[in-house]
Amino acid sequence: MVIGKKVDMKILLVGSGGREHALAWAIAKSPRCSKLYCAPGNAGIEDQAELVDIGAEDIKRLVAFAKSNAIDFVVVGPEAPLVDGLVDALQKEDIPAFGPKANAAILEGSKGFMKDLCAKYNIPTAKYGRFHNLDKATAFVHELGAPIVIKADGLAAGKGVIIAQTIDEAIEAIEDMLSGHAFGLAGSELVIEEFMDGEELSYFAIADGKTFIPFASAQDHKRVFDGDKGPNTGGMGAYSPAHFMTPELEEKIIETIIKPTVAGMEAEGCPFAGVLYAGLMVVDGTPKLIEYNARFGDPETQPILMRLQSDIVDVLYASATQTLDTLASLKWSDDATLCVVMAANGYPGAYEKGTPISGLNALNDMDDVRLFHAGTLKDNSGAVVNVGGRVLNIVGKAPTIEMAQKRAYEGVSKIDWPDGFCRSDIGWRAVKALKEKAV
Ligand code: AMP
Ligand code: GLY
Repeated sequence: MVIGKKVDMKILLVGSGGREHALAWAIAKSPRCSKLYCAPGNAGIEDQAELVDIGAEDIKRLVAFAKSNAIDFVVVGPEAPLVDGLVDALQKEDIPAFGPKANAAILEGSKGFMKDLCAKYNIPTAKYGRFHNLDKATAFVHELGAPIVIKADGLAAGKGVIIAQTIDEAIEAIEDMLSGHAFGLAGSELVIEEFMDGEELSYFAIADGKTFIPFASAQDHKRVFDGDKGPNTGGMGAYSPAHFMTPELEEKIIETIIKPTVAGMEAEGCPFAGVLYAGLMVVDGTPKLIEYNARFGDPETQPILMRLQSDIVDVLYASATQTLDTLASLKWSDDATLCVVMAANGYPGAYEKGTPISGLNALNDMDDVRLFHAGTLKDNSGAVVNVGGRVLNIVGKAPTIEMAQKRAYEGVSKIDWPDGFCRSDIGWRAVKALKEKAV
């Protein structure tokens, strides 16, 4: 045993999505975890953890559960409890928790805060203005011209962003948001910003308030249909690493974006500990920040954790206890990983709940294919049914992205769910780039 390293930990994981199933799988593998609970979890997480019937946003009951069950460490998946102060409440009880405190989660909770931080610390991002008032907002739209991006300031479940192709469309979106019709209070303040044209990339770093370690890159697929068509979703698939990531690009991301953010948050009196998930646009080789999230991405976490060979508990616990500087470098598989999301027919609009899913066990025997559940539950008969819009994540792992894609879709083909669908082209940009390189 390494002296000073806490082992035999009882860990509570908070959340119920595919991200949390991937975290549960990785945490349960750790020799440092003696018992894993998950609140509230899903049908898949039952394989790794004892489910606790407390919602992810019920801070009082989560803290009470952690105290009465002598939990050693809490890992928080989703953003809402972070923004609402779950980590603050746990720390008050001397329970270490992975994730930022409320005053740092504001980096995701308020787009205006994030943009002001960028301005103050010279972090490259789109030109912007913050508005409560229609006349001033309209004048700014005329100044910047279209296309232009209109964002609700607060959390709007990933849906508070309108990319307006014309000035009229922009003004309509502003009126809608300021009236409170579109996003309620989240839209009472707006950020309006320049449209950036480039290639999108998700980059993850883990911070502990003072320092940080690079983690991984991925590319998400936000639109619901093949060819990146249709409305935005929480993410229909992802792969890791992002195909155009290079050591030079990573260095630029770290030096110009991650490092000044960690230093800036500390200087502002709200040190950031947890995942810094940077949504980036790479414009002519220069990474620019679109947004920050204060938690792991979903579905990006599923392929990323399939590549991680180091112990995830070492990383998360070091972040929560300000000891990242003592952590050995992380080990990653050289393979690529790719995740296909299966969603309920109708998602991201209205969809039916309680539809039965079968064929899931067939994936247990497949090499380098892993199933992570998201919106699932077992009904009274023990059958798996959907309770959410994004429902299953099938991840393939292989030496090339094209092979990982093939493996993931082989997994998908085993699943019998007439009420679900998936995109058939996850990873298309990477596969196309790989083919072009081979010519
Ligand atoms: P966000 O919720 O800020 O990540 O925005 C959702 C999506 O809108 C992003 O993933 C981008 O595809 C797009 N987006 C947001 N801001 C901009 C921008 N300034 N320029 C271009 N696209 C953007
Ligand atoms: N995949 C997008 C998100 O986690 O916000």
